[in-house]
Amino acid sequence: PSLQDIWDLNDMQIAAKNVLSGKDYAYYRTGSLNEYTYQANLGIYSKIKINGFGFRDVSNLQTSTTILGYNFSYPFFIAPAAKAGRANKSAEASLASAAGKSGILYVPSISSTLSIEKIAQAGVEGQVMFHQEYIWANTSQVIDELDRIKAAGFKAIFLTVDNTGINGIRTRSMRYTTDSDMRTSHAANFDLDSLAAFRNLTDLPIVPKGIKTWQDALACLHLGFPAIYVSNHGGRVLDGVPTSVEILLDIRKHAPEVFEGMEVYADGGVRRGTDALILLALGARAVGLGRPPMFANIWGEEGVLRLIDLFGQEMKTSMQLMGVSNVNKLNSSYVSSVSFVVV
Ligand code: FNR
Repeated sequence: PSLQDIWDLNDMQIAAKNVLSGKDYAYYRTGSLNEYTYQANLGIYSKIKINGFGFRDVSNLQTSTTILGYNFSYPFFIAPAAKAGRANKSAEASLASAAGKSGILYVPSISSTLSIEKIAQAGVEGQVMFHQEYIWANTSQVIDELDRIKAAGFKAIFLTVDNTGINGIRTRSMRYTTDSDMRTSHAANFDLDSLAAFRNLTDLPIVPKGIKTWQDALACLHLGFPAIYVSNHGGRVLDGVPTSVEILLDIRKHAPEVFEGMEVYADGGVRRGTDALILLALGARAVGLGRPPMFANIWGEEGVLRLIDLFGQEMKTSMQLMGVSNVNKLNSSYVSSVSFVVV
């Protein structure tokens, strides 16, 4: 399908389903077990009411923000997702260049198709990228990768801590493969001391990714991390865990100091500009897109540029209709009437 016929992120997913092999589409699309969390991620945004205020000057919309002190054109970013090469030969290179040309953040996965160095080279002049890392059981592998990430110019590490020792059981994807997704080489003994000590392995700032409880968020605050990344890994790890909306609400209720003391990023099921605005209103500073850029990449860089443009337009239009002119002015007054009880 031509990009001219693509009007939103859902169109991109449908196109990808038609173009990719069953195996590659399943790899991107799958959640774990019953996919309750995967489905909840998509559905949760319909449970939140967005307040649209009139009588406000929205003639000058401001979407730019800082993430860990670096400037970006939008408060949404391309989240780490493994193996972009399953959708396009250009793999992560088109994600890096499209992000750079649009001024948004890209955080490549450590399980990418291309090498750390190749992805760095695909960026545009002056582009700031962060890099994802896993808690591999093999510490010398971690140290080697962190050194390469730093040398290649990446400015921070998103350290994914949600699949300690093991991955989720992803039936939809496993049906296509004999090498089980479950056999991973992640450290199963990674505790809070390990998290604190991980910072000795690099001088890049570390952002724990995959925070799913207010208790873990608070622990990261107490350890002095500059940011956390609330995420259930797109519903691919532990099925049944809450969505980022619910986790943010829990942190607001039990540990509101987290939002004062550190930056909070979030992702999961974000497919509309309004979804991102809800997470920002609940306290996220920036919001990640996981699957959508992978699907957009069936057209390579052009597809990813179109995704960023469409998503940015949805965000700007909705901000204008909400009566908020600056993404950094979003707060809980813009959302209400949560139609379920969070205890
Ligand atoms: C991921 N995700 C992920 N996260 C991570 O930290 N390292 C990784 O290598 C991967 N790999 C990966 C592959 C694929 C195919 C998907 C779909 C996801 C999780 C990702 O960063 C993000 O948390 C979720 O994808 C967000 O949910 P949505 O936007 O896909 O609904």
